[in-house]
Amino acid sequence: MNRKYRKTLIAGNWKMNKTPSETKAFMTELKGILPKGRWCDIALCVPSVCIPAAVRALRDTRIAVGAENVNANASGAYTGELSTAMLLDAGCKYVIIGHSERRAMGETDADVNAKTLAALQAGLVPIVCCGESLEQRESGITEEWITMQIKLALANIPEEKIRKVVIAYEPIWAIGTGRTATPEQAEEVCQHIRSVVRKLFGSKNARATTILYGGSMNEKNAYELLAQPDIDGGLIGGASLVPEKFVKIIEDANQPTA
Ligand code: PGA
Repeated sequence: MNRKYRKTLIAGNWKMNKTPSETKAFMTELKGILPKGRWCDIALCVPSVCIPAAVRALRDTRIAVGAENVNANASGAYTGELSTAMLLDAGCKYVIIGHSERRAMGETDADVNAKTLAALQAGLVPIVCCGESLEQRESGITEEWITMQIKLALANIPEEKIRKVVIAYEPIWAIGTGRTATPEQAEEVCQHIRSVVRKLFGSKNARATTILYGGSMNEKNAYELLAQPDIDGGLIGGASLVPEKFVKIIEDANQPTA
């Protein structure tokens, strides 16, 4: 992390877990144990039907609510989809875009780019995900793959908007597997992502861009991951479903930075 130049963000990604009633109960518990300090931004990205319950429960807190997906179109015949305007009006601040689980369901780099542009246009903070498969890592093409994903995701973003984008590096082999990237592996790729942003948007913007690590980040390994200079926070799946674990990770973001 480097709190001097950029924001630290601890964001939960609930995926397809918890009902609206369970959301309410979770938030009540979380509020009871939330640390007082303001050393990082906090967000919970929840299933769309849980957004109203989350927003209501978190109204008097500093925790923001996010969605897990969005449609790039403004409105129309897209059964089952949600627009940026709907998410904003419902009280969302963030939206996860291009998660590998959605890419596996057919989301393309062009979709990721269109959604990112739409989110920025609407004033939502996009959390843009990238990450390599185990096969790609073992073939030694991680950097090339990540470069391509980032370049395509960030195409046509106006320079003045890039600082609003949060990038999440999530190696697919580490998601939900308990097999976390080592702090060195995660730092290496996050540093590389920053160098790609530097080439595209200049060094001041690269220095100000928040880059998260995600993939089995939990209450046991977060401190070391967050101690890396280019890892500005976490996108947390499993461990964000348990209030004590999520809070421990928030506390781990309170450490000296470079
Ligand atoms: P995990 O998920 O923490 O359960 O590995 C992270 C993510 O997919 O965002």
